Amino acid sequence: MAFRILLSDSGESFDCREGQNVLAAMEGLGRRGIPAGCRGGGCGICRVQVLAGGAYRTLKMSRAQVSVEDEAAGIALACKLLPSGDLVLRSLGRKVSMSD
Ligand code: FES
Repeated sequence: MAFRILLSDSGESFDCREGQNVLAAMEGLGRRGIPAGCRGGGCGICRVQVLAGGAYRTLKMSRAQVSVEDEAAGIALACKLLPSGDLVLRSLGRKVSMSD
């Protein structure tokens, strides 16, 4: 089963298989709409916000990159984001604040 991921800023879309993270799915198809860094949930470069389609789960993400409030607002790390339905995402890029 695959889900459709649409990046609202670039208009790119790609399929993500069940159990696959969004960043890996994107890179596997040669797309670059979400910047990639550590690919392990630590650097925050791949931060995205889910704009539509709330069906997903996330694996362990650095709290320095995604706070509880961020998470409640639909913000997640694409490398730890596993869709269970179609999603519309906005890439947020690297977190600017270094205060955490
Ligand atoms: S690429 Fe580093 S947190 Fe996703």
